[in-house]
Amino acid sequence: MRAVRDLARRGAKLVHLSTNYVFDGTRPRADGGYGEDDAPAPRSIYALTKLAGEHAALAYGDGALVVRGSGLYGHFGSASKGGNFVERMSARARESGALKMVADQVLQPTFTRDLAAGLVDAVARDTSGLVHLTASGSCSWHEFTVAFLELQGIDATVEPVATTLAHGQPDRPLNGVLQRPRADALGLPPLRDWRAALGEYLNSR
Ligand SMILES: NC(=O)c1ccc[n+]([C@@H]2O[C@H](COP(=O)([O-])OP(=O)(O)OC[C@H]3O[C@@H](n4cnc5c(N)ncnc54)[C@H](OP(=O)(O)O)[C@@H]3O)[C@@H](O)[C@H]2O)c1
Repeated sequence: MRAVRDLARRGAKLVHLSTNYVFDGTRPRADGGYGEDDAPAPRSIYALTKLAGEHAALAYGDGALVVRGSGLYGHFGSASKGGNFVERMSARARESGALKMVADQVLQPTFTRDLAAGLVDAVARDTSGLVHLTASGSCSWHEFTVAFLELQGIDATVEPVATTLAHGQPDRPLNGVLQRPRADALGLPPLRDWRAALGEYLNSR
C-alpha cells in the first residue's frame, strides 16, 4: 500500500484496470448489463483479486482511477494466454474447419486500441473513481467468433454450445455486459461498436 501512496505523493495518477468478471453475471441478458453502482459478486479467484485491487486502489491511491474492461483483444495479445482470442480461434478454425463456442456467455469484445484511447482521455479529464469502459453493443462468444471468421473469409462451422464448468476452470459470468451510467454522467465518450472495432483490428494487423 505504501507504493500506491507514494504514487500520489509524487503526483502520479494510479489507473487500475479491472474486469467485468467482478459481477456474477446471473442477471438475464434481456435486463441489460451491470453499471458502476451495481454490487460486485466475484465467482473466481481471479475476479476476487481484481476486486481487492479495485478497493486497494480507491482506498490508498489519491485520485485513483479504476476502469473495468471486458473481452480484450489487440495487436500484442495476452502474454498469459498466448496471443489474443481472435488469433487463437482463427488459427484453430483454419486448421480444423470446425469450432465449438459458448453461446450463453455475453460480453463486449473490446479492441485494446480503443480502450487505451479511452483510458488516456479519462486521465486527461482527471477522472477518478470507478468507470466502465467497453465497446458499445454486445454479443455472445459464439456471435463474436462467427463475426471474425466471416470478416476474414475463413470457412469453418461454429457450433453454439452451453457453458459447462470444468474442474479447475474459473467460473465466468454468463451476462458479462457492462453499462456505464457513471462514465456517461462524467461525459466520457462511449467506445465505438464492437463490430466496427473488430473490422479495423482485422484490417490493421
Ligand atoms: N484479457 C481480457 O479480456 C481482460 C478483460 C478485462 C480486464 N482485463 C485486465 O487487463 C489487464 C491485462 O490483461 P491481459 O489479459 O492482457 O493480461 P496478461 O496477458 O497477463 O498481461 C499482463 C501484463 O502485466 C504485466 N505484469 C504482470 N505482473 C506484473 C508486475 N508485477 N509488474 C509489472 N508488470 C506486470 C505482464 O508483464 P510480462 O509479460 O512481462 O509478464 C503483462 O504484460 C489485466 O489487469 C486484466 O485483469 C483483461
